[in-house]
Amino acid sequence: MVAMTSPAAGTAADLDRDNVIDVRNLQVEFRTSLGVVRAVNGVSFGVARGKTLGIVGESGCGKSVTAFAIMQLVANPGVITGGEIVLRAREKAPVNLLTYDPNGDDMRSVRGRHVGMIFQEPMTALNPCYTIGNQIAEGILLHRTSDPAKADAMALDILTRVGLPSPSRLMTTYPHQLSGGMRQRAMIALALSCEPDLLLADEPTTALDVTTQAQILDVMRELQDDIGMSIMFVTHNLGVVAQMCDEVAVMYLGRVVEQAPVEELFDSPRHPYTRALMRSIPQLGAARKGRLEVIQGSVPGQFTKVPGCAFHPRCPDMIPGLCDVQSPRLLAANDDALVSCFLHHEPDGSARVSDVPTPGRVSPSSSSAIATPPAS
Ligand SMILES: Nc1ncnc2c1ncn2[C@@H]1O[C@H](COP(=O)(O)OP(=O)(O)OP(=O)(O)O)[C@@H](O)[C@H]1O
Ligand SMILES: [Mg+2]
Repeated sequence: MVAMTSPAAGTAADLDRDNVIDVRNLQVEFRTSLGVVRAVNGVSFGVARGKTLGIVGESGCGKSVTAFAIMQLVANPGVITGGEIVLRAREKAPVNLLTYDPNGDDMRSVRGRHVGMIFQEPMTALNPCYTIGNQIAEGILLHRTSDPAKADAMALDILTRVGLPSPSRLMTTYPHQLSGGMRQRAMIALALSCEPDLLLADEPTTALDVTTQAQILDVMRELQDDIGMSIMFVTHNLGVVAQMCDEVAVMYLGRVVEQAPVEELFDSPRHPYTRALMRSIPQLGAARKGRLEVIQGSVPGQFTKVPGCAFHPRCPDMIPGLCDVQSPRLLAANDDALVSCFLHHEPDGSARVSDVPTPGRVSPSSSSAIATPPAS
């Protein structure tokens, strides 16, 4: 359990709407023999009810650790050291999940019932020793009904809805007997079997071929409409973001630097890091000869503490004496968007009058992925 953070500690300005989850100033450290890695260093974002929030950012910026922290499943030697994770699930009073014991019954009832998780590697979630049917029915028996026959019927129903062929045969099939795409669907069925309020999807289709990926994304969207669930979708693929997400949160070095509706983020990215990301991906219709830009500089080492804004050493617009000294807060840029940057806010939080020019719209191709700059 983690103490509540004081409201003054750099929390996000909440957008005025109904969020199923609000993560505020979340901090996660890995205490290794070589030093402390601040994997998540004050992450704040919210997921609107029934909507999909994409989470993007370079490898190692803390996307997966954030998802695991919401489930209170951060692996050793990781420790959640601060922040709040407020869940507003149906049939449940709003609660800061970090007040729950990670190993207690309250947290166990949140996992699966209110928050489901799917991963890039389905065997992280599936138990090789039990049949698919057994695993799905077990969760349903825990959260939805005490009648085993009803649980089996519900398990069969969800296997059918995720588009698996011969679902009744699958009830008695073991995970290793399935192809990669089928295993991924079985894992999605498992995560959705209790109709969670929120699904955490951590690169769930990255390892799949394009056709299977498209089918699985369709299934997720259909089930989202049926159940009315919200999705936090971690991906490197901006094509998938454009296709799946209502909003996007951009992470850099353990923090969210910008959150905005997807169209707005592609049309007029506000944070210099988001702008650089947009310029580093292929654009539909762009001249073939043009080279993709690489974000200048490199990500600081795991144990390096950067003073001021974490992006300032690589930022083309950094303001000396400010960005390298003070840390910007994530503040409202308008009614729908948040940004953490002194180009948009004065240190006292008031809006900055002069704005920086924005690049043209980015049309992500379906294969575009975020370029990771070379370590130099
Ligand atoms: N077991 C661990 N021990 C030490 N550091 C860790 C451990 N697990 C994660 N980290 C650190 O936490 C940081 C965030 O990792 P995380 O897996 O969340 O990145 P990510 O954004 O999901 O990256 P990717 O896009 O590659 O999946 C990384 O810098 C990583 O080095
Ligand atoms: Mg990850």
